[in-house]
Amino acid sequence: MTVIEDLFSVRGKVALVTGAASGLGHAFAAILADAGAHVVVADVDQFGAEKVAAELGSASAAVLDVADRAAVDALADQVVAEHGHLDIAFANAGVARGTPPLVASGVVDEFGLDDYNALIDVNLHGVVYTIRAAARHMRRQQSGSIVATASTAGMRNDPFVPYSYAIAKAGVINLVKQAAHDLARWNVRVNAISPGPFKTSIGGKGPTSAAAEDRWNAVIPLGRMGDPKEIRGLALLLASDAGSFMTGGVYPIDGGALLQGPSLPAVE
Ligand SMILES: NC(=O)c1ccc[n+]([C@@H]2O[C@H](COP(=O)([O-])OP(=O)(O)OC[C@H]3O[C@@H](n4cnc5c(N)ncnc54)[C@H](O)[C@@H]3O)[C@@H](O)[C@H]2O)c1
Repeated sequence: MTVIEDLFSVRGKVALVTGAASGLGHAFAAILADAGAHVVVADVDQFGAEKVAAELGSASAAVLDVADRAAVDALADQVVAEHGHLDIAFANAGVARGTPPLVASGVVDEFGLDDYNALIDVNLHGVVYTIRAAARHMRRQQSGSIVATASTAGMRNDPFVPYSYAIAKAGVINLVKQAAHDLARWNVRVNAISPGPFKTSIGGKGPTSAAAEDRWNAVIPLGRMGDPKEIRGLALLLASDAGSFMTGGVYPIDGGALLQGPSLPAVE
């Protein structure tokens, strides 16, 4: 093994990735499997999870709704019962639903609606439950790396996402800091990846439309949206021993989007 392979290896580790049937979660699962981990591909989409697990080889699929706390606990327990340990957890599952303030009157109309509550349940509570379930085992093991998927929308105002999304992602960022400080005494690291616009299926509309992509491209300093594969390096850094002194960090990966103001042209 070369020095680099050794540094970034996760051989023999067991990783749980939520929302791994698509987009960024798929990319996280793929790089962890490539680097030697057994990956539990967890998703509410059973068919998608099974497809990704079959593609990765060193993986198994699990149907999971991260908003169901008991189910998240049960899956973490099952992984440890089957494999003996849980070393890496990516709390990544997320949805985009509801109406951004530029389209509707936002703060006036959005709160209390079903979309608001459903999004908070998945994008905030789902991350709390996943971190908690993983931490119970990692604390006992005295080791582990947890990575949550935040968003640049949690780091500043963003008129192109609903309030619920911005609130959930800001919550994820402070949750990560709180948990990182708490769990450090057990040698458990907790970090957040904070993506800008990536070409995934988020929002349930399938791949990003060409028109939306053109508009994003125009306002991202690097001139284009991210390809999910471009998140792999940061993910492996945080998951592996290469990141052994990194905890409590929030790492934007956004083509420079945060360098611009949030006043972007509207995206359907
Ligand atoms: N794509 C972007 O531009 C972008 C930017 C910032 C942050 N993010 C975040 O990245 C994460 C992944 O999103 P993506 O862009 O890859 O979207 P995606 O839609 O391609 O993938 C999300 C996956 O999560 C799964 N999922 C949804 N609800 C779930 C639940 N309750 N339990 C378990 N799985 C569930 C979906 O079935 C899907 O497979 C999300 O947290 C999202 O908020 C994405």
